[in-house]
Amino acid sequence: MKVIGTERSQILAGRIADALKTEIIDVKFSKFPDGELYIRAGSLSDQMVVVGSVTDSDSFIELLLLIDACEGRSCRLVIPYMGYARQDKKFREGEPISARAIALALSRGVEECFTVNIHDRKVLSFFSTKARDLSVAESIGAYIKETNIANPLVLAPDDGASAFAQAVARTGGWDCDHLDKTRLSGDTVRIAPRNLDAKGRDVVIVDDIISTGGTIATAASMLTMQGARHVYAACVHGVLAGGAYARLKSAGIREIVCSDTIERGCSRYSAAVQIAHALDGC
Ligand code: R5P
Repeated sequence: MKVIGTERSQILAGRIADALKTEIIDVKFSKFPDGELYIRAGSLSDQMVVVGSVTDSDSFIELLLLIDACEGRSCRLVIPYMGYARQDKKFREGEPISARAIALALSRGVEECFTVNIHDRKVLSFFSTKARDLSVAESIGAYIKETNIANPLVLAPDDGASAFAQAVARTGGWDCDHLDKTRLSGDTVRIAPRNLDAKGRDVVIVDDIISTGGTIATAASMLTMQGARHVYAACVHGVLAGGAYARLKSAGIREIVCSDTIERGCSRYSAAVQIAHALDGC
């Protein structure tokens, strides 16, 4: 078995290869003068693992090209972050189900596909091949244990993220709750933990994705007003669009961390071990 990765997922691909005690294949990435992508893979093996997050259009095309280059071999696909997954239904007439379009295109020539903390597991049913979702909740828990955050209150920003926050909290036996939004008047909302008090506590807000940072920045400001001692943010996929990191820092968040499903300066834990374990167990 050998591992091959897209340009933007090469560090995670390398870590997966290390965890599997196998090789990562050297790939030449370049562009034609008209902007079309060109890839050329080194020596492929009969069993291939293709790794690539869909973070933009080019990374999606790179994945398609890498899968095609593996034609005639057993090919398993790892999509650590699957962009477009949040458009998982037609919210308005005339819209595509983007998650389905991406999943179907990436299924061709693939025996099995793995995602990591996908926004909604129902997206797995859009793949025309076997698909399974993995979780880095334990890695986030292990990271929190390594820091000097004592007895944190783990908070999900909404009910939808509760199961994930509980999985993180279980790793350390920490308190866990989710934030509730209460409309106080036409233009005022109060965001606070549903059952627990954040006063005097170190709070870690955990979510699958931080995109614009709007959700967590608003929550952090309110938690600080409610007397939280320090607020931290930990996510799986650090999309960090449009100045999100600075936005979160200026909202008073002490530390913002993410995994390497999208490789960032603030990637502090890796999805490699969970992915390698799943690939090894197949
Ligand atoms: C939404 O359902 C997701 O779980 C995240 O909460 C959301 O994508 C975060 O977006 P933003 O950082 O733009 O507030």
